[in-house]
Amino acid sequence: MPDEALDALRATKGGRFLDCTLGGSGHTQLLLEANPNNVVVSVDRDESAVVRANHRLAKWIEASRLTLVHAAFAEVLRFCERESFHGVLADFGLSSDQLSGDRGFSFLTDSALDMRMDRSEDYSAASVVNELSERELTVVLKRGGVGSLAKAIARAVVRARPIASTAQLARTIEEATPMRLRRAGFHPATVPFQAIRMEVNQELDQIEQLLDAVPELVVSQGRFVAITFHSGEDKLVAQRMRRWESGETPPAMWRERRPSPQGRGGDIHHGTRAERVAAGESVGRVVTRKPLVPSEKEVEMNPRSRSARLRVFEFA
Ligand SMILES: C[S@@+](CC[C@H](N)C(=O)[O-])C[C@H]1O[C@@H](n2cnc3c(N)ncnc32)[C@H](O)[C@@H]1O
Repeated sequence: MPDEALDALRATKGGRFLDCTLGGSGHTQLLLEANPNNVVVSVDRDESAVVRANHRLAKWIEASRLTLVHAAFAEVLRFCERESFHGVLADFGLSSDQLSGDRGFSFLTDSALDMRMDRSEDYSAASVVNELSERELTVVLKRGGVGSLAKAIARAVVRARPIASTAQLARTIEEATPMRLRRAGFHPATVPFQAIRMEVNQELDQIEQLLDAVPELVVSQGRFVAITFHSGEDKLVAQRMRRWESGETPPAMWRERRPSPQGRGGDIHHGTRAERVAAGESVGRVVTRKPLVPSEKEVEMNPRSRSARLRVFEFA
């Protein structure tokens, strides 16, 4: 949904932008082209995305309009210290380069069980599949959206150990899926593979850490745009945006909540925006009451986009 994202970020007006998910550099390039004064910082924890963009976007790097950073969301505040942006974009999930390569993300190509976005990490799909207990594996699969079959799949995987390849894993999952629960045109390994990938890269935890950092990164009237592909990711984004707007704090934060002299929603603010979030103040408004979804034409051209949800928040 590149047009919707660029519109939401008001990229043609000119400004500084942070693209947290460089990937194949599509959004970064559009941001740079939207206005000749735009300056972009683009981040990816996958070093090969950064290396490719270094070649592909060399002219903008030379013009000092683009900085590429190899880092994970969890580190974003550290390297953006004292920088703020008119727009921050996060387009979660996998890039086409990752999916079509031989890095174990897809069962369509037989390869070693890997699935690490950052290949300097030790924890891989082989660790998840061959080392977790049946119980831990069930939790991983459930958290990633595998419903009632999570237990049966975890048991089948543990029995089939050692599992060495994506094809062997996909076969094991398929055999553990009763015929009556198989859907035409949808491989039974699709959701379990996604769940294992999310565990390998600790994706939900990474998103939480990015959401913690975002209020500190965006200027007043600036926007945060998030595109998700998984209901678990979308839920995290939607809940956080609602909380930023309403000022309500999550239960775990109640104990630490410091009373503000103006009360909730008071219009005199002290401290950083993160402190105001923690104190239960509203820091802006949700622009998208309902998430934007791709048009039928976009889904036809790119079937992978069918589960995309785009949400926008504007900071006050
Ligand atoms: C869907 S792709 C982005 C595609 C990109 N918007 C484009 O136009 O080509 C998501 C990218 O985010 C990266 N990514 C995912 N989680 C990350 C994290 N926690 N920290 C940094 N990068 C991450 C992935 O490595 C992947 O390259």
